[in-house]
Amino acid sequence: MRILEKTGDVISIVALPDESVFQGDYLEIVDEVKDGSVVLQVYDESYIPSQSLTEDIIRDQVIQSTANGQEIDPLEISSVSQLIKDMRLLRCKVRGSIQNGVMIPNVSWLPSRTRSKIRKISQSRLLDLAGQTGTAEIKLGTTRDGESFTIFGEAIDGNLSIITGKKESGKSHLSKILVSSLVSSGAVVVVFDLNNEYEGLAYSREGLRNELATRIISLEPGKNLKFTLDYLGEYSLVSLMQHVLDAPGASMREFIRIIGSLRSSDTLTLEYLSDTIQNWRCNELVKDALYSRFQTMRSAGIFSSEGENSVRIDAVIKSLLPEGGAIIVSLKKCSSLTKRMVVEIVLSKLVQLLERETIPPIFLFAEEAHLYLRETYWDDIVTRMRHFGIFTTLVTNQPDAIKDGIYRQADNIFLFNFTNETDLDMIARASTADSETIRSIVRTLPKRHCLVLGKVVSDLPMLIKVSETRFLTLGQTKRFFGRNSTSNDVAKKIEVSAKQSFPQ
Ligand SMILES: Nc1ncnc2c1ncn2[C@@H]1O[C@H](COP(=O)(O)OP(=O)(O)OP(=O)(O)O)[C@@H](O)[C@H]1O
Ligand SMILES: [Mg+2]
Repeated sequence: MRILEKTGDVISIVALPDESVFQGDYLEIVDEVKDGSVVLQVYDESYIPSQSLTEDIIRDQVIQSTANGQEIDPLEISSVSQLIKDMRLLRCKVRGSIQNGVMIPNVSWLPSRTRSKIRKISQSRLLDLAGQTGTAEIKLGTTRDGESFTIFGEAIDGNLSIITGKKESGKSHLSKILVSSLVSSGAVVVVFDLNNEYEGLAYSREGLRNELATRIISLEPGKNLKFTLDYLGEYSLVSLMQHVLDAPGASMREFIRIIGSLRSSDTLTLEYLSDTIQNWRCNELVKDALYSRFQTMRSAGIFSSEGENSVRIDAVIKSLLPEGGAIIVSLKKCSSLTKRMVVEIVLSKLVQLLERETIPPIFLFAEEAHLYLRETYWDDIVTRMRHFGIFTTLVTNQPDAIKDGIYRQADNIFLFNFTNETDLDMIARASTADSETIRSIVRTLPKRHCLVLGKVVSDLPMLIKVSETRFLTLGQTKRFFGRNSTSNDVAKKIEVSAKQSFPQ
């Protein structure tokens, strides 16, 4: 390999056809005279652009198709000329330099074109040099060279992460690896599970309960996830009425007074709330507005009157400590309004508990959050929630469902394949990495491969193959053809048996 030219932070390198360097690989330019070396990442490969080569190829093709004859080449020139035609031009981004055994993000010198040697440098060595350390290991998969690739939970801790890519590219799979590794390292994770697929984390691939089984608690709204009004308290009830049920200002005032009066008489239950709204002395329209919303709330089936099956989030979290565990909120079967109600309750309760410091910081995993997260929570997630101690990972196949501003604030992005130009544009524009890398690497990513950007990789974009499942895969797309297959049956049976009821 040789340096051809440099423009801005792009260095072009010529490589022989059989040199095994590909898109996403890292190279190191060592200049003997200078201290240290320059680190580059290949983001695109093409043929050498040369007019004379093009003419040569056309001439060859014309001669081959018109003149039949025997080729005599005693000096074996043709093999050299073929080699030249197949030479590759590797376009590389300068990612920094290694000086005194430390990776730093800037380079202050230009390597020599004649003296310097170019060699591959492994991704794990680069991460070591960049100072990635921690104790909460997350084995994500392998690099192209077959080395195992590990990130540290510490780089997800306190940060906002986004997993995105097109349909069925392996996003949920990666998110499950993150959840299970965080749980193994003692963290508390809350998952908003849209397809009821995270319950599989408690089972091995064969469907047997695994070592995490007692620490994965699956809660289904209306079944084993119900709340008493008393537990929710004024804060959650008011935000439910205001943000999810859209009660107008006048009704909210009365609602707050009603809740206050029930609390003072220690009778904050469904029955009393129903009676009190009906008998409350106020404008009939306000009363109607409140009562109809109350009925919507009650019909969602997530409030328990006698405390049967009722859940206290703090008690569940405490039961998971100190080993850590995951609370999976299974939202698949809920109506969209119930989803929003459950999410509002869980989030407002978590914020309350964190404010009082009764629970440790939480990792929150939200699949397709735009379907149930209210508008004002988005900004909260990147600003306020982080300070309280809720560290979110958003998983989506619609990158435009997340605002540009949120991408820019994201500390880590796991990018799977996108071919759609609009989606690519959006990601390339909004993320912190350079758009050329994202555009050319992400477009050609095979399934189950992802480009990792951000703090987890010390801002050195890394291409990895996500490892196989260790746990049961649930939540596959349902198909018409092959719907009687045995693997579906196993998953279905486990799905039924996985519905553990939570102790009260
Ligand atoms: N690295 C992997 N190794 C083995 N199987 C995988 C891997 N990644 C994904 N799969 C499998 O591929 C299928 C699709 O993966 P997954 O459900 O994670 O995709 P997704 O991007 O979340 O899709 P959707 O957009 O439908 O939510 C699943 O059956 C999953 O088990
Ligand atoms: Mg998914």
